[in-house]
Amino acid sequence: MGNTSQGNLISMLQKAQEEFGYISESQVCQISKHLRISISRIYGVATFYAQFRFTKLPRHTIKVCLGTACHVRAGEKILVALERELNITCGETTSDYRFGLERVACFGCCALAPVVVIDNKVYSRITPQKILTLLKKVK
Ligand code: FES
Repeated sequence: MGNTSQGNLISMLQKAQEEFGYISESQVCQISKHLRISISRIYGVATFYAQFRFTKLPRHTIKVCLGTACHVRAGEKILVALERELNITCGETTSDYRFGLERVACFGCCALAPVVVIDNKVYSRITPQKILTLLKKVK
């Protein structure tokens, strides 16, 4: 692939992502037809650039801290409770795109351990029971 077609590819991927927040499979197919570049080549190029994402963003992102302070206060149990309740594993998004689940190494507020952050809001001294109650309140 020459520099021009790679440049065209990058700008088309950027446009697709700007419009929908992520790049869907059908958009990749369209781009492939339009630029006559194979789908695998497109993914190959796009994954090289951290800016591109291929999955829709969840409405809410839940980040569970598993740093040392949170770990010793049973942070892992919160993650397990969430995985069970949402029926996904860490790093995944629910099929309705309502929740995405992630783990974090430390939020820098260890005194509040164990910590969970939902959409950038910090929740301190969380227990598995508390997190399930909280989950019901998040729409
Ligand atoms: S270890 Fe969890 S906030 Fe630091």
